[in-house]
Amino acid sequence: MSRADEPDPAADETIRALEAALAQSPDNVPLIRHLARTLGQQRRFEDAERWYRRALQLASDDDTLRLALAECYLDQNKHNHAGVIVDLLLQRDPPVAGTFVLHARILLAEGDVRRAVHAFHRAVEDDPKQAESELARRLGLSAADLAGRSGDDRDEDDAGVPEVVDGRVRSLADEGPNELAGLELERPRIAFADVGGMDALKEEISIKLIQPQKHPELFKAYGKSVGGGLLLYGPPGCGKTHIARATAGEAQARFLAVGIHDVLDMWLGNSEKQLHAIFEHARRNAPCVLFFDEVDALASKRSDMRGSAGRHVINQFLSELDGVSASNEGVLILAATNSPWFVDPAFRRPGRFDRMLFVPPPDETARAAILEVHLAGKPLEALSAAKIVKKLDGFSGADLHGLVERAVEAKLRAALKQGAPSPLTEKDLMRAAKLVKPSTREWFSTARNHVLYANEGGLYDDVAKYLGLE
Ligand SMILES: Nc1ncnc2c1ncn2[C@@H]1O[C@H](COP(=O)(O)OP(=O)(O)OP(=O)(O)O)[C@@H](O)[C@H]1O
Ligand SMILES: [Mg+2]
Repeated sequence: MSRADEPDPAADETIRALEAALAQSPDNVPLIRHLARTLGQQRRFEDAERWYRRALQLASDDDTLRLALAECYLDQNKHNHAGVIVDLLLQRDPPVAGTFVLHARILLAEGDVRRAVHAFHRAVEDDPKQAESELARRLGLSAADLAGRSGDDRDEDDAGVPEVVDGRVRSLADEGPNELAGLELERPRIAFADVGGMDALKEEISIKLIQPQKHPELFKAYGKSVGGGLLLYGPPGCGKTHIARATAGEAQARFLAVGIHDVLDMWLGNSEKQLHAIFEHARRNAPCVLFFDEVDALASKRSDMRGSAGRHVINQFLSELDGVSASNEGVLILAATNSPWFVDPAFRRPGRFDRMLFVPPPDETARAAILEVHLAGKPLEALSAAKIVKKLDGFSGADLHGLVERAVEAKLRAALKQGAPSPLTEKDLMRAAKLVKPSTREWFSTARNHVLYANEGGLYDDVAKYLGLE
């Protein structure tokens, strides 16, 4: 806008004339805007600020005025004031022209070069002329870096974000297409038979995700929509990831596991593109179970990602889920969290994660089954898994896994000492059990508060039932 303008000797004249005119019609917003802009050009920012505020009192829904006020704040190094306004403007759909540029300037002024670059890319998408601007040069970006990244035809896989090296931004041209690095497509060899207990859960997953895939006509005939996902929640180590992987095996699908923290951290400022690339990867490899771990991170991150960055990631996630730009046919979506109470409620709308499934610590039968799974293939004396797990209430699958590991280690140590191996016995396992503390208790003490005080719509009824609170 007005910032790079030279001081103008005639400006004082103009300012006086505008002030005189305003004395006649004090509520004339265009006049006030003109005056404020001229004052800003004369670097009389405090006066300009005062007039912009006055104009906003008269035209409170004029975002161009709001943006001008934010610029005026930034010119006075009031980053915070400017940031608050820009955060507000970024929530508009679409934000008024110039919002992204100012966002980038604020971030740069705050020293957050990475996010400034990200904001600047948006600015260029908004207005390609920005690629040639002074700000582009200050960010160390050339027009060539920015070319081809605007518009809708950009390559979805081109998710590289420039790196800051010695305070400078490395050129985008240096970045290889390693955007899905660290994400591995698996073909799990485990199926439901390898998951101990959890029969109700297997049934739900089967009806909601696997059967619709196998018999789409049948589900369509009943007008049952196919799609959406399931959100698994519960204490750590009780098999959320395990059952997600087994779901893929059961459905003879591939498995793509994504930690939301990775999406948010590794591709800072580029998470939306990254999410899109991940969904596309799963769609290309259908049938595929797409598993999102730690989805609560999306919500908890939202508060500390200043402004709308977090909102953008959530919106991107939701529109991918809704299959807005591409069909999710053949993509089974599962998500998991230990903290369902931090998950954004927008996730639970129909057609999204409309069903939350509680994955409880295994009951006695399930514990025995889990123990047997982990003992399978090891040298064993005849023993009763049922007897061993009887007193192990609150033990998670991971705890039982740990117990077996401990028993095996002790056995190996003994075998090395004696020079002869001997099979695992009931006693070995009982002894190991004493050394492992059940790890789920802490989770339940947190969960209890949410069940008692925030169980709207019976969201956590399963937990209430489990705790005997209903
Ligand atoms: N029902 C089960 N049957 C067999 N093994 C199980 C079962 N539940 C858990 N396990 C074992 O416990 C380990 C931990 O389970 P998993 O990683 O799936 O827990 P989680 O709920 O995803 O935990 P977190 O919340 O920490 O991610 C698994 O590797 C698996 O060996
Ligand atoms: Mg897990």
